[in-house]
Amino acid sequence: HEGAQHYLPAAADLAALRNAAHGCRGCDLYRDATQAVFGAGPENARVMLVGEVPGDREDRTGEPFVGPAGGLLDRALEESGIDRGVVYVTNAVKHFRFTPAERGSRRIHKKPSRSQVVACKPWLLAELEAVGPEVVVCLGATAAQALLGFDFRVSARRGELLELPGHPGGVNTALATVHPSAVLRAPEEDRRRAYAELTADLRVVAKAI
Ligand code: URA
Ligand code: SF4
Repeated sequence: HEGAQHYLPAAADLAALRNAAHGCRGCDLYRDATQAVFGAGPENARVMLVGEVPGDREDRTGEPFVGPAGGLLDRALEESGIDRGVVYVTNAVKHFRFTPAERGSRRIHKKPSRSQVVACKPWLLAELEAVGPEVVVCLGATAAQALLGFDFRVSARRGELLELPGHPGGVNTALATVHPSAVLRAPEEDRRRAYAELTADLRVVAKAI
């Protein structure tokens, strides 16, 4: 496996990219996942949101952010005043990574490795080229490290409008915030604050577009 580069199609529109991603074997994740989960949303979206990796529900349906994290994200977008219709949603890594539960058929999400993030990055760059959003929002450390560098720390820089290194697709501006799953996983007493911080970061995006 040498990364996704070899699988990129000549045509760079979203439909061609999505189609080609289904045949990607750029890392070993395609083997156990059900299908590639490509990004979704309009080709002229003004905001691109980048998550980590599809979850169980996304793997089954083929659509990004349709599980519990997606529900929380939809609410946070609405509260921040970002119209879902101007948003393209995708992930840093396109195939579900999981470990089987010790008993039963449940599959437990696993964070993608750095080499898997690197292998899958050509798809993310191609999405940025095709969509050309005004702002790309990294949801959590995996997306932030994919686009802003492996030394990037979300906790130190969240909520700031940052220059996107390399300007892929002519996109100049990035913002990092926490992953919606981190809000869901926060202990009950911290959850409300974590959610408020996520929506505050998204409001910075709403103002910038
Ligand atoms: N978490 C992610 O990072 N992406 C999804 O699509 C769903 C959950
Ligand atoms: Fe290709 Fe990314 Fe899937 Fe790996 S995770 S096979 S690089 S699409």
